[in-house]
This record gives sequence, C-alpha cells and structure tokens, in this order.
Amino acid sequence: MSSVIVVGTQWGDEGKGKIVDLYAEDADAVVRFQGGNNAGHTIVVKGKQTILHLIPSGILHDHKLCVLGNGMVIDPKVLIEEIQYLKGENAFPPHTKLVISDKAHLIMPYHRRIDAAREAAKGTGKIGTTQRGIGPAYEDKVSRTGIRVCDLLDREVFAEKLRRNVEEKNFLLTKLFGEPAVDEKPILEEYAGYADLLRPHAADVSLLLDEAIRQKKKILFEGAQGGHLDVDHGTYPFVTSSNTVAGNACCGAGVGPTQIHSVIGIVKAYTTRVGSGPFVTELTDETGEHIQRVGAEFGATTGRKRRCGWLDMVLVRQSARVSGITGLAITKLDVLTGIDKLKICVGYRTARGEEFTKAVPSDLRVFERCEPVYMELDGWTEDIRSAKRMEDLPRNTRRYVDTLETLAGVKVVLVSVGADRNETIVTENPFRR
Ligand code: IMP
Repeated sequence: MSSVIVVGTQWGDEGKGKIVDLYAEDADAVVRFQGGNNAGHTIVVKGKQTILHLIPSGILHDHKLCVLGNGMVIDPKVLIEEIQYLKGENAFPPHTKLVISDKAHLIMPYHRRIDAAREAAKGTGKIGTTQRGIGPAYEDKVSRTGIRVCDLLDREVFAEKLRRNVEEKNFLLTKLFGEPAVDEKPILEEYAGYADLLRPHAADVSLLLDEAIRQKKKILFEGAQGGHLDVDHGTYPFVTSSNTVAGNACCGAGVGPTQIHSVIGIVKAYTTRVGSGPFVTELTDETGEHIQRVGAEFGATTGRKRRCGWLDMVLVRQSARVSGITGLAITKLDVLTGIDKLKICVGYRTARGEEFTKAVPSDLRVFERCEPVYMELDGWTEDIRSAKRMEDLPRNTRRYVDTLETLAGVKVVLVSVGADRNETIVTENPFRR
C-alpha cells in the first residue's frame, strides 16, 4: 500500500511527465488534483509526439484509473478533444478508466475571454498567463458562482447558472474591458453536447479513491506547474491560480493527509520560467541560449521560449519544506554536458545587506532586488545518457548531484540523463520501498 505525490519544485516544466509516466507503471491510479489545461506534458503515441494538457500521464498504461480531481478546472472542449484523439489513435487502453470529479469546475468561453482581456489591460505588468481561462475559472469557484461538472449534467441547473454568469461577465467584458459581449445561446448548445460525452466519466472521486486505498491500491498524485507558481507560496502575483504544493493533493482529490506516504520533488538540473516575474539566476547570455536550445525549452502549452538560468537552490529548499518532500528526482542533467563551469545559487543578497538562503522573500519588491550568491563547480564533457547507476556518472557529474542533495537536505532517488524512459538512474522507487 502506498500513495505518492509528485510535484515540481521550481516554476513548472521540470520534466514531471517523464517521471510520472515511469512511476505510473507501478501505480493503480494516477490522479491530477489542481490546474487545468495550462499544463502540458509531451507523450509519444505510436512514435508520434503529442501534448496532453488534462488527461494524466497514466493514460498510456492499461488497467489504470486515471482521475481528474475536484481541485482542477476543466475545459470540456479540450478534454473531449484529448479523449477523441487517444481513441482515434487506438491509444486509449481498453481497461483503463477515465474518471472526472463531478465537483471539478468548468472553464467557460467567457473565462478565456476575460483572461485575455485582463492581460491585455495590464500592459507591462502582465503575468504572462497561458490565456486558457484558468484564473477567471478559479475566481468563480472562490466567489461561489462557478459551474461544476455536476451542474453541466443537469440542463436546467446549467442553463440558469450560465444565464447569471453571462450577465455578470458581459458587464465586465463590455463596460470594464471594452470588449464585445459573449452570446449565451451557442454556449448552452455547445455545452449540452459536452454533457452527454462527459456523463459516463463523472463520479465522486473521493469515494472512488477511498475504495481504492481500502483495497491497498497504489495511488500516484500528479502535480502540475511547480511550487513557486503556487498561489499562496509562489512568487505572487506571478503565479497560477491554484495551490501547486503537495498538500493540495489531499484537498484537490478528497483524500486525507494520513494516506500519503511519500512526496517526490522534481528538480530540473537548471532553472526555467515561462511568463513574467523575477528570476534571480536568469541567464540572458550565450549560456542561457545554449541551455534553451539544448534543453528544447519551449512552453508545452503556448510554445513560448522558456527563460533559462542556473540552478537556484533557494527555490528547491523552500519547495522541499513546504511540500514535505521525501525524495528528489533530478531531470535533464544531460543538458548541462559540455558547459565548462557550472554555477549553483546557494542564496540571495541585496545591496541593503539582506540575505536569503532558505526562503524566497515574500515581498516581490525585495525579491526583485536580490542578487544570486553562487558556488561554482567544474562541468563535464562525457556523454552521460547511457549511465544506469550513479557510479557510471563522471566524477564532476556526481559532485553536481551530491552538492544538490546536500544543499536541499533531501536524498536524490532518481536522475534523468536523457528524454528516453531507459535513460534514467533509479536509486529508490517510492512504490517499491
Ligand atoms: P495561468 O496558469 O495560465 O493563469 O498562468 C499564470 C502563470 O503560470 C504564467 O506565468 C504561466 O506561464 C505560468 N504557468 C501556468 N502553467 C504552467 C506550466 O504548466 N508550466 C510553466 N508555467 C506555467
């Protein structure tokens, strides 16, 4: 019996997809608990690369329960397209079940419109959202005006909630943002079609998972984004609108904290960020461009170039603490091959003498003033992609991994040395302890 949570420790895009896919082999259920189609993970179906945004990575394995938890915001159009795509490619395993929480909130067309309009209105202060309507959908959830999956399944309830929402959103769109209004009728018709398609998948996820746990099934909780995009613990306001830290796996799926056994934090061997916001170790030079190119650092959802920089251990330490991380998985270590001198940020300092080593300053104005304090390590030139054990890694690569482990204060349980599944060193599998 075990339940494992996988979360990103940086600003997302740590390469969680590969690790979740690997662990999914041992899991009976794979559960997403927050976010929506702002996330994206690249999977390979019949040799063809596809990016899924909503369906958990476990979908590629047969005999799994794939769950979209109540903490998610779901764009039904995107979800149905993903289901249809997988079915069309004969890639929807026959015994794998896709379940959607009937309590999850829906992303509506007006959410996408407001997301875009608000970003445009912000000018230089914009967050750089994925413009998928994530923030506005969560706003409605918290203001108790949101529309949930269970509402969609009842045409009358849906029509009434839609009417009230359209009235309010059109006021915002036309009066505040000077945009055209949305039309209620086509939305009603479009979403009625989605209701029929989603009905067979809707269920009370908490009950289902409880049953699975009682049957000693293994549950894998798949976090999206990263610890520093968390709406409470991230670099607010340059964050997403959900809690991305491990604690939200319980809330966003309806499982008690006493059921969780391990939390694996994914650390990319360097740091990236998409969207706006301070980034202390950002490299705007040739090295940054080199990492961006070699690491193919493009946003999976928006295609934007990711900003790249040195590994920032203040970020990782904070995530380890806030998410109670029990093991670290290092990804994309091979991308650093061939860089002569590698830097790791061990703390921040400001001109006013403030120092931060364990936590990112809460006040963004202070964070903006921070300069990195680096330690420098020798790089390596050897190709590390065929390494199967830690001992196979060159001495300097091991030193990099050991340093990361010491600075984080958490043991490394996996090192990814290439994109392929078998280009992975596993020292401890959280499901096979
Ligand atoms: P939103 O989640 O679309 O509202 O975007 C808010 C911020 O989170 C923006 O900076 C996005 O670039 C960032 N973001 C959202 N999802 C992801 C992700 O999956 N990876 C990396 N950044 C993300």
